[in-house]
Amino acid sequence: MADKSSSKPLIRVLAGETTSIPPIWLMRQAGRYLPEYRALRAKCGTFLNLCFNAKLAGEVTLQPIRRFGFDAAILFSDILVIPHALGQRVSFETGEGPRLEAIDDPVKFGRLNETVDHDVLAPVYETIGLVKSQLPADTALLGFCGAPWTVATYMVAGFGANEQIPARLFAYRHPDIFAKLIATLTEASAAYLIQQFKAGVDAVQIFDTWSGVLPPDEFETWCIAPCAKIVAAVREAIPEAKIIGFPRGAATKLDRYVERVPVDAVGLDWMIDLDFARDRIHSRRPVQGNLDPLVLRAGGAALDRAIDAVLAAFAPRPFIFNLGHGILPDTPIAHVEHLVERVRGS
Ligand code: CP3
Repeated sequence: MADKSSSKPLIRVLAGETTSIPPIWLMRQAGRYLPEYRALRAKCGTFLNLCFNAKLAGEVTLQPIRRFGFDAAILFSDILVIPHALGQRVSFETGEGPRLEAIDDPVKFGRLNETVDHDVLAPVYETIGLVKSQLPADTALLGFCGAPWTVATYMVAGFGANEQIPARLFAYRHPDIFAKLIATLTEASAAYLIQQFKAGVDAVQIFDTWSGVLPPDEFETWCIAPCAKIVAAVREAIPEAKIIGFPRGAATKLDRYVERVPVDAVGLDWMIDLDFARDRIHSRRPVQGNLDPLVLRAGGAALDRAIDAVLAAFAPRPFIFNLGHGILPDTPIAHVEHLVERVRGS
């Protein structure tokens, strides 16, 4: 494989190389902390309109690259385009987050389509092509999907519920139906990622934002098993596919995740103990992370200390600098500029 000689530092790290300066990008880097995003968002109607308008979504994808010169652009879209492409009604209310027609009983599950409609997702693939042609040669383009468990939590509750209680209850009460929902999402997500690779992404990230609320057995069933299946299905179609897994909140369960899910890198959240992450996870796999998004918002001496601690823990091995979760909307631009400068040592 040519990955180790790729011109893109992020791809070299995913191939197991340690770079002299770690590549950096930030989860949710295309979004509300940017005035240029807010200006464009105000003009384009609903959030899904923006996700499905290739020209505008491409523009939003490129905004943080122009401003900060990150080592990766992440496709502007949302994990909830998959329920939408399965026929569930999805909308985003300003200030309130996503709203879906909840699948809170077995009958409602029956109304869902079994496979995604790729025509609905076609603008996303078009965005990838548009962005690809405008990116600097050393900037990677990342695609993504939500992991089945995380997407299912929104589908069942109809919104972002506290501790994902509705989905966890549904899974305990109706395990067979919940397993079918997870199987549908596993297949849909694999097909979606394969199409993203075909459209031109260099790597993808699987966001399991809510995996941390699962007890160990459920984590095995609803996080590890479906994510491992997605990785296998994507690699069957695209053998060289580079994949980052982000099981947020997994804590010590990361040990098992790394053992069973053959992702090329593991995204670490900001809560993980740095010694555990270095000794038990980073010794086996490239990692990405894990600055506290709140310390980036705070800035000052606390930010510098936290950046240096992350670099000291992970920079000696294959490492991608990132936050431990998405950038917060009220993060000052100057703090992001400072972060990039400090990581790059200037
Ligand atoms: O990272 C990027 O910049 C690319 C775009 C991206 C968005 N959402 C844009 C978005 C990505 C990768 C996501 C992933 C996503 N979406 C996740 C997983 C990662 C995470 O942050 O936990 C989840 C759980 C969602 C679901 C979702 N979408 C929620 C809960 C919300 C509302 C709350 C919030 O954080 O804004 C969204 C809306 C959303 N997705 C916005 C953006 C820029 C804000 C919409 C707006 O402009 O009003």
